[in-house]
Amino acid sequence: MRVLEVSDLEAGYGDVQVLRSVSMHVNEEEVVAIFGSNGSGKSTFLKVLIGTLKPWGGTLKYMDHHIEDLPPEERVRRGMALAAEGRKLFLGMTVEENLLLGAWTNRERSKENLEKVYTYFPDLYRKRKDLAGDLSGGQQQMLSIGRALMSNPKLLMIDELSLGLAPAVVTKIADVLLRIREEEGVSMIVVEQEVSLALDISDRAYVFDLGEIVDEGRSEDLLRRDSIRKTYLSVL
Ligand SMILES: Nc1ncnc2c1ncn2[C@@H]1O[C@H](COP(=O)(O)OP(=O)(O)OP(=O)(O)O)[C@@H](O)[C@H]1O
Ligand SMILES: [Mg+2]
Repeated sequence: MRVLEVSDLEAGYGDVQVLRSVSMHVNEEEVVAIFGSNGSGKSTFLKVLIGTLKPWGGTLKYMDHHIEDLPPEERVRRGMALAAEGRKLFLGMTVEENLLLGAWTNRERSKENLEKVYTYFPDLYRKRKDLAGDLSGGQQQMLSIGRALMSNPKLLMIDELSLGLAPAVVTKIADVLLRIREEEGVSMIVVEQEVSLALDISDRAYVFDLGEIVDEGRSEDLLRRDSIRKTYLSVL
């Protein structure tokens, strides 16, 4: 079964159209990467998926059900979770308080989920009583992903995985994501500017340009494709 199936999606802000006829899908336990130039609509696409931006047209199916009319809370309840661009943490609250805020869909499992997040990210356990605002960039990204995990997602979406982070931290977080996929059977959509990383961690990828999908394929094939290497990997 497909976890997500998007067909001919159109969306924008006011009367400015951003997304044009976007069609894509995510299979069970698949990691799908999205990359493309600045302003190409990647974050807008994730906003439509989580439901904070209404689409103008097209269809959105999650686990075989239409979700176009569901509010974001209901999408989260059903297992969609977004670690948003800019991380959107409560910087004046502690790490643990931020995590518990992500647990509103299933409070009865919050202790168990908290332990799970701490197992995946031991840094967060060590810093659990510290303010989110005092964390390093990498730890804040872990917290953002950890908070998304607190709702037991089936589809985890991450906007700008590596932005502003040191390569060693990115590798560490990417390894944890692949473990989470393996152990929890979570599917993922990862928006990532660093194309070699995006293709490294994903099974398949979609390339966005000016609000459209201009290329797609298995990540290992895209990595070898000349047009991708020249445009996005600076290989001549
Ligand atoms: N809240 C908003 N109101 C109006 N226009 C917006 C809004 N957010 C984004 N846009 C516009 O929509 C287009 C797509 O932006 P979006 O943030 O989705 O791109 P992106 O691919 O995520 O870019 P980046 O790589 O910089 O994160 C851009 O032209 C942007 O200026
Ligand atoms: Mg963006």
